[in-house]
This record gives sequence, structure tokens and C-alpha cells, in this order.
Amino acid sequence: MTPPHPETGRFAEAFTQMGEALDAWLAKERVDPLRSPTDWKTQLTGPLPRDGIGADATLREYVDLVLPHGPHLTSEASWGWITTGPATVPTAVAAASMIAAPQRQTQTAFNLLEEQALDWLVELCGLPSGMKGVFSSGGSTANLVALGAARQWALEQRGVDSASDGLGGLELAVYTSTQAHHTVQRSAGVLGMGRSQVRTVPTDAQLRLDADALDAVMTADVARGVVPVAVVAAAGTTNTGAVDPLRRCGEIAKKHGAWFHVDGAYGLPGILDERVAPLYDGLELADSAITDPHKWLNAPTGIAATFVRDRSILYRAFTQEAADYLEGAFTPDDVQVSLDSMGIPYFDFGVELSSPVRGVLVWSILRELGADGVRARIVQDNDFARHVAQRAREHSRLELLLDPVLSICVFRYVPADDVSEVAVDAANREILRRLARETRFVVSSTIVHGQFALRPCFINPRTSIADVDAFVDTVIALGDGLDTAP
Ligand SMILES: Cc1ncc(COP(=O)(O)O)c(C=O)c1O
Repeated sequence: MTPPHPETGRFAEAFTQMGEALDAWLAKERVDPLRSPTDWKTQLTGPLPRDGIGADATLREYVDLVLPHGPHLTSEASWGWITTGPATVPTAVAAASMIAAPQRQTQTAFNLLEEQALDWLVELCGLPSGMKGVFSSGGSTANLVALGAARQWALEQRGVDSASDGLGGLELAVYTSTQAHHTVQRSAGVLGMGRSQVRTVPTDAQLRLDADALDAVMTADVARGVVPVAVVAAAGTTNTGAVDPLRRCGEIAKKHGAWFHVDGAYGLPGILDERVAPLYDGLELADSAITDPHKWLNAPTGIAATFVRDRSILYRAFTQEAADYLEGAFTPDDVQVSLDSMGIPYFDFGVELSSPVRGVLVWSILRELGADGVRARIVQDNDFARHVAQRAREHSRLELLLDPVLSICVFRYVPADDVSEVAVDAANREILRRLARETRFVVSSTIVHGQFALRPCFINPRTSIADVDAFVDTVIALGDGLDTAP
């Protein structure tokens, strides 16, 4: 039998090779994978390898064939969806930590920083002091964990332990706006409440949840005996960055005996910009909140945090319960070495047992930039959105569809004064396609009041104002060049 490949242990060499490749790739102009001269699909596709090619050849293949044919969403002109451009320090820290700390448990620096980073996020984002959290992989899981806590709490009030016994035959409902991220519906489905039990309340002209409508829907449900589990308000919607009226949402939730959850996956750090901070009034009413450092804080993808007032509710909702392979292994009364204690048992507060360490990423971001450095980036990103808005106001062929609240700007090109709505939509779809096909700018789109909009979301630390101006110039040039004859 052939002996196995020995583990090389040559991290310095491997990381240097990767680092150099990444720097070169970032400096290069974007070439779309589907237009690459390299036939990477054929070269990467094949049967299960029987014999390995070894460490050096594998890393070389990654650098030559995989890296150059990725999505290039880290470049300075990438503002699609809510996709971060991961910053250097937390990304390097993440890579090193995967090796140094493949688990977050036991009493080590990583377990300590997991907690400190959660506490720092509470303070940074102006959450009620004393809130405690747990990290997970992204906003989807963070919302699931928060709504799991809400379900546990709501049914405990009615004598049912939902983690153990299910829903007790009760009809449950969750309340949010039509603009909410659909992970709210998915969470309701996974938690057994049912996607169709998410009531989506209409929004006002600025696409913020209509609080009066919320109150009316909840009043009607409660009168029918439905258990109102949670109100979910957005601190920064995905579509346009709208911040729901948090105070009114919180008050209405409490009036009807429901949990109040704030989805700040994207927008919670927006509170750092004092121009918009007043919009977050009422955040102190939250029973739970989430934010994703892999969005506006520029951590590499795979990190979100859920916060609650009392983490014992997470324990009751999510504990993984005793297991033979853990029993007797720890001596919490006599901790002498790190392995004597699990440290804070995060695996009991969410849906993951094994998990990468994540607090250390937030720690590295805040050590590098400080709260004021993060604030400066957020203010700059909000400025970028306002700059696009201003240019749209000033240009006769551009139309601003909503004043930006945070770092998203929704606008469109209007080919001519007398052109139909259908033709304007078609023109903007074509501009979006051509941006992707012919330029370095990656933006996405949305629908605002029935109108198709271009939608840059500025959360990329590599972006400059020159990039933003060049983008607007390009939209105008593409629009002017369209054949819009009826
Ligand atoms: C408001 C909001 N909530 C939840 C999510 C889901 O987050 P993730 O993609 O990290 O799972 C998103 C994603 O954009 C979001 O914008």
C-alpha cells in the first residue's frame, strides 16, 4: 500500500504563496470567468482523483485555475446585493485561526475573545447594555436563533416547552413588513410555525413598516386566539436600507405580548453615523437583535451574531443536552489548565456544535480600526450613497427613487421624457446587463414602488469616491448609448 502523503506543516510557504496570489489578483482588472481564455471548466472537472498530486501542485492549481475564475466581488467597484469586500486583517486572522483554534470551546484566548467581541458589538451598535450573544454563520442562522428564542419564550408563557414538546397545538404567528428579508419566513418554516404564519404588513412611501397596520393585524389575530410570537423590525432593509419605526414596533409588540426582534444584519452598525442615529430610537426595546460582521464590518463571510437579554432562553431553546463523549471530561470546580473547562458553552446557545472561532475576527477589526475607525467607514459609505443620489438629482436623465437612508442608493436612468414605464424598466435592465458584461462595476437591482432600480450598496472598504463617480458616469454613458426607439 502507498504510504499517505505526510502533512507538510509549511504554513509560511503556503500563506505567502496565497498572499502574493491574492494581491496580484486584486490588482488585476476583472476578467469574467466565462470569458477567460483558460478552459478552467474542463481542467477542473474530472473523476475522483485516485492518487493525490501533492501539496505544491494543489496550491498551484488553486492559484492558476480557481482563484482567477471566482466572482471577483472583493474589487473596489463591487457593490452588488449586500456582499462585503472582506478586509485584510480579519481575513488573515480567520485563516490563521482555522488552524490555531478549530473549536471555540475550552478556556483559551479564542473562547475569551468570542465573548468580548459579542460584548463589544453590543456597545458598538448601541444595543441594550447587558445583552448577551452567540455567533453563527450568517444572518439566516442568526435570525433562526433569535426566532427560536422568541418561539420558546412565547410558548413558555402558555406552559409549553416548545424545544421539547413542539407547538402545543397552538397557532403561532410572526409579524414583519413586506420588505423583510425572507430568512424570517424560512426561520418560521424551520421552527415549525409555518412560513404562511408570517404576516407581512404593508410599508409607507419610504418602505418602512406601517406601524398602524401592524397593530391592526396583531389585534385581529389575538382576538382569534393566535399566539403572537414576535414582531420583526428591520434596522436597514435589504432592498433599500429603510429603518423601520423601531420604537412603535417595540411598543406594539409589547402591547400584544409578543417578542420584539430587530433584524440589523446589514444596517445595525449604521447607528454609528450620527446623521441617522435617531432612526434607531427604540432599539432599547429589543428582546433580540442580530447583526452580521460579514456585511458592514468587512469580516470574511461566515459570521453573524444574535443577541438576547438573557442567554438562558437560548439554552432552553437550543441546548444539545448531555452526551457521553463529554461527560466527566471537565472539572469546572478545579480549573487548572484550559482543557479543564469548556469555557462558555456556545454550542448550547444556537444550532452549531463545531464552529469556527468568530469573535477573534471582530476583535481584530475593532483592534485595527477602533470604534471611531469603523464609524468613519460607515459615514463614508453613507456618503457614497448620498453622492450617487445627488448626482441623480442633478442629471436630467437620472431619477432618484428614494432618498438614501444608509449606504444603498436606488435610482434609474430615464431614456426620454415621454417614454413608457415599461421602456424605462427595459432600459435599466439593459444597463444592468451591460454593466456586468462590459464594465468593472458590479451592482444589483431591486424593485421600488413597482419600478426597476439600479441598486449599489456601499460596504466595500476598497471603494473611493472616484470609483463612485466613474460608476455614475458609466450608467449615464450606457443609458445615452441605448437604442430606445419605440
Ligand atoms: C436584513 C437581512 N437579514 C438577513 C439576511 C441574511 O443574511 P445572510 O446572507 O448572512 O444569511 C440578509 C442578507 O442580506 C439581510 O439583508
